[in-house]
Amino acid sequence: MPSYAYFHNQMVPLEEANLNVMTNFMHYGTGVFEGIRGNWNSGRRQIYLFRLKEHYQRMLNGCHLLNIELPHTLDDLCRITVEVVAKCGFEEDVYVRPLAYKSSESLGVRLHNLESDFLVFAFPWGPYLDTDRARCCVSSWRFPNEVPRAKLTGLYVTNAAAKTEAIENGFDEGIMLTPDGYVAEGSGENLFLLINDRLVTPPGSDGILIGITRNTVITLAQEELGIETVERHIDRVELYTADECFLTGTAAHITPVSEIDHRRIADGEIGKVTGKLQKLYNDIILNNNRKYSDWCTPVYRK
Ligand SMILES: Cc1ncc(COP(=O)(O)O)c(C=O)c1O
Repeated sequence: MPSYAYFHNQMVPLEEANLNVMTNFMHYGTGVFEGIRGNWNSGRRQIYLFRLKEHYQRMLNGCHLLNIELPHTLDDLCRITVEVVAKCGFEEDVYVRPLAYKSSESLGVRLHNLESDFLVFAFPWGPYLDTDRARCCVSSWRFPNEVPRAKLTGLYVTNAAAKTEAIENGFDEGIMLTPDGYVAEGSGENLFLLINDRLVTPPGSDGILIGITRNTVITLAQEELGIETVERHIDRVELYTADECFLTGTAAHITPVSEIDHRRIADGEIGKVTGKLQKLYNDIILNNNRKYSDWCTPVYRK
């Protein structure tokens, strides 16, 4: 099944969506991207895009930060994305990658006097961490001092280093600390602990990406399980002694963490609350829970 991209304002086969080597953003990291999941519901033969608008709202906020002006409204971006995914015709879980970027074929470190463009493409992508229980380490790579809370391409070099360090040391994921030594997030996920029957997660002011899955989990924990989430600094040692730990992200969904720095989290099994949240979440992203169907955008016209 061929993939398609919306590229230079038209739909093209993915292999034809190529950028010139002088494109400004490739050299200076001046792009804003998103990661959106399309979840295949085999019963209904439908792909549902999860929280599409929220992803594009976050991307547009990032564009504002980088002086990227797009001719598209939020609704345009959502409509184009549905069209791209529908055109691909996949019958499996997909991942959608929008990118807004400084598109001038001109070098020079700056944000001003440059043109901008937007592209989006989709491709089949299964589980990201590909394990039912992740083994993590605390990374030696720390967040940069001042982190804009947006998915800016240039920022991800630290995350990439943290991920590779973790894999090379035999772990599934690396957990980065803030410059002050507080727990921040995984290379591509937010982090939650369960401590004394409450969820705890780092606050936005620690520079983390404000994840859409993070927001989904906070909402579901409160609305469906009556569990409060506290957003506060987390010390490294709290990682080891928490009752439960899990990672959240569009790619990773809700992934339980069984071990950090070779120390088991509780008994190393999937925690009760983590399991309940996973079940709720897995139903909701397939649009099997009417209460949350506003979060699911169908792709195929019936
Ligand atoms: C660094 C980082 N933190 C957290 C997340 C989780 O964000 P979301 O749940 O919106 O995918 C991601 C993934 O997008 C990420 O790259």
